[in-house]
Amino acid sequence: MGKIIIANWKTNPDTPEKAVKLAREIEKGVRDKKNEVAIAPPMPYLLPVGQALKKIKLAAQDVFWGDLGAYTGEISWHQLKHCEVSYVIVGHSERRRLVGETDEMINKKVLACLKHGLSVILCVGEPKQIRHRGLVLVKKFISNQLEKDLRGIKSSFTSRESLVIAYEPIWAISGSAASHPDKPNDAVEVISYIRTITRKLYRLSPRIIYVGSVNQKNARSFLSQKEINGALVGGASLKPREFLKIIEAAKQ
Ligand code: PGA
Repeated sequence: MGKIIIANWKTNPDTPEKAVKLAREIEKGVRDKKNEVAIAPPMPYLLPVGQALKKIKLAAQDVFWGDLGAYTGEISWHQLKHCEVSYVIVGHSERRRLVGETDEMINKKVLACLKHGLSVILCVGEPKQIRHRGLVLVKKFISNQLEKDLRGIKSSFTSRESLVIAYEPIWAISGSAASHPDKPNDAVEVISYIRTITRKLYRLSPRIIYVGSVNQKNARSFLSQKEINGALVGGASLKPREFLKIIEAAKQ
């Protein structure tokens, strides 16, 4: 299985026309068939962006665990399936911090997606205060998140294709890597630990990817690591030429 590179556009761009243009430019430039590419646009652009994509898969930035019903303001897994979404990002640090998402809520989202045939990209990772206290504490923090977020998961409805874990050192995302760069060796150590934990607790072998201001300059140093199965890319995925270079860097 090749690597997976996912664009997380967050609340960008500001119009659906710009989103479709961006998607088309990226779609046109993707030549590599071995690796997988997905784009997570803002929710209102899922349909038009999805229609512009053929080789690239569609991802959503969030989901609600309920089906159809009295859930004002939410978007259910049911609707995402109708928009032909393949992947759903769950538990991104921005949602945990800005919207107050708890591990219990994240767990419900993970289970709902997996049971209904949507692949999950589960984000876990430590804040700066934990990182400052060393990798032993980082691992403890992440194993606690994994235990809560994946509770109840079963290999009967979870495969290597359907679960991706995104290691997100929170202190290195959204451009912070320029002032606090992560080291590929440290990322590999944490990712190897995530692999051990998911195997031990749940007998699963998900793909494990890296999130932390991946850009055209640092992409190869992370993506050439065997342990790192891909990347979730924010800011750099809004620049088609740069994003295509990151995709290129994933080639072995
Ligand atoms: P970044 O964002 O690449 O801009 O750091 C990644 C993310 O938060 O998904």
